[in-house]
Amino acid sequence: MENETVKEVPEFYRDLRKDTDVNGLWHFSHRHHPGTRKPVRTPENKPHRIDFGWNLIFPNHNGTIEIEVGSGRGGFLAEYAARHPEISILGSEWDTTWAYFAAKRLLEKKVPAAMLRGDIFYFLRDCVPSESVDAFHMYFPDPWPKERHHKNRLLRPEFLAEVARVLKPGKRFFYWGTDHAEYNELALETFDAFDGATVTERNSAEPTDGIRTNFEKKYIKEGRPIYRSLVIFEK
Ligand SMILES: C[S@@+](CC[C@H](N)C(=O)[O-])C[C@H]1O[C@@H](n2cnc3c(N)ncnc32)[C@H](O)[C@@H]1O
Repeated sequence: MENETVKEVPEFYRDLRKDTDVNGLWHFSHRHHPGTRKPVRTPENKPHRIDFGWNLIFPNHNGTIEIEVGSGRGGFLAEYAARHPEISILGSEWDTTWAYFAAKRLLEKKVPAAMLRGDIFYFLRDCVPSESVDAFHMYFPDPWPKERHHKNRLLRPEFLAEVARVLKPGKRFFYWGTDHAEYNELALETFDAFDGATVTERNSAEPTDGIRTNFEKKYIKEGRPIYRSLVIFEK
């Protein structure tokens, strides 16, 4: 359209800090102008990149790092981490209540996982070093069903670009699941169109390690369909 102007997305400072009470919980959140809730914008609207290494969150990691996108109450995360002590897995959740809930669950289960409270897209973009992650898990992301909210969906090409950048070379898994048919179709199309991604188990993947997530258990009770796929990223 002729007069349409593209709105600039404002860039803000975000800082990464360890929670002072709950071990294994990290906050990646906006820096605020003192005494206010107003986030501080960066000069020239440039992204604020942070010098981050996985040793900060996982001092004893053996090099195998996985990320769960949108962990909710952390049911999958805790169970998966308990079965795989050799993997350092970071859950993520931008809702503060759920982030604390999940982090406390990890502590109770004494598993070597951690929780990030914050927006995983910006964490990937601004912190995570290239070629440092082994796998991604993304289960039952918010579908944002109204059309005007579709822009809020996380599974977009720019998100996959960050995923591809941070994944290690070779064949790497992206585990995907949703109950939402339309979002599922769009997500599979987005994977199909993404150079280097191949959907291998198209709507036929089993729950990872047989573990059903909190939302999945609820949706199964409600009789909703479940769509799970396995996607391979390769470079
Ligand atoms: C529907 S829940 C599913 C939770 C869990 N995966 C499950 O299956 O039980 C999706 C979660 O993703 C979180 N989320 C959405 N966008 C996010 C983002 N950009 N960064 C971190 N968490 C996000 C939401 O707060 C919500 O708790």
